[in-house]
Amino acid sequence: MMEITSPGKIILFGEHAVVYGKPAIAAPVNSLTTNVKLKETDDEISKIIVPDKSLTPEERNRLEELVELMKKELDIKDNFHITIDSSIPISSGMGSSASLCVSIAKSLFLHKNNSVDVDELSKLALIGEKIFHGNPSGIDTNVVSYNQTLFFQKKKKNEFIKIKKPLNILIADSGIKGSTKRAVSLVKKKYEENKIIYSKIFDDMEKISIVSKKAIEEGDIEKLGRMMTLNHALLKMIGISNEKLDYIFSSAIDYGAYGAKISGAGMGGNIIALVKEKDIENITEALRENGAVHVYHTVIK
Ligand code: MEV
Repeated sequence: MMEITSPGKIILFGEHAVVYGKPAIAAPVNSLTTNVKLKETDDEISKIIVPDKSLTPEERNRLEELVELMKKELDIKDNFHITIDSSIPISSGMGSSASLCVSIAKSLFLHKNNSVDVDELSKLALIGEKIFHGNPSGIDTNVVSYNQTLFFQKKKKNEFIKIKKPLNILIADSGIKGSTKRAVSLVKKKYEENKIIYSKIFDDMEKISIVSKKAIEEGDIEKLGRMMTLNHALLKMIGISNEKLDYIFSSAIDYGAYGAKISGAGMGGNIIALVKEKDIENITEALRENGAVHVYHTVIK
């Protein structure tokens, strides 16, 4: 039997713009994970087991499709019992599908070769993620595969970011399920209608990602916070925020966060806030009181 665990993720800067070829920054979250156990079987088909959760027929079909697609890519004929256990909230912008795709892909690679090339792993996971998200940029599967904070741009080599000062991040789950596929296609529709304006916004998001990479490398936490808040304003402009997300965002700022923003596809999902260590408890409390259903603390280092 093979057992693989992969982290969740947050997008620090540049979501959506990254789909249009702009750079973005993502970090793994190792306190939220997907665990996959792969056991070879003589059964005629592979079987997905998700303890403590009854899958809808649609969810089961998708997962089976995912496994068959990856097996085909790797030319694996064997069948498996695949047990999935995840602590990452689904459709919350924390990388549940990327983490699942990477875990399954990694276990299949190891079954076949006893080794994994991380580049190949992230490519295979991305093929799988298309089942969930239609047209993903690849940032989620890359950050989860490498398990490192990265500056990602489509068709370019990943740049791994050296973090000078640890970043205390609170992840406030709004409890509203946000479909990445729907958010990405909504933004695409608006982009097609307003190419000039949307291109300018994506250009600004690019500048924010570039400035923020430097701020992370220099340990300029205050600037990083300002960049987050600016990025949130731009995400709001492209139409992927909502009242609850803005409310949670404002409470983070009001209670003294350096900065805050939507992280991930939006239209639900989570707000991340960059905070001082001494404020973690206070701001967590404020986020809960102002609508977050869960608040997770993670340190990016
Ligand atoms: C989702 O975590 C990030 C998006 O930019 C989609 C993608 O890059 O695939 C919204």
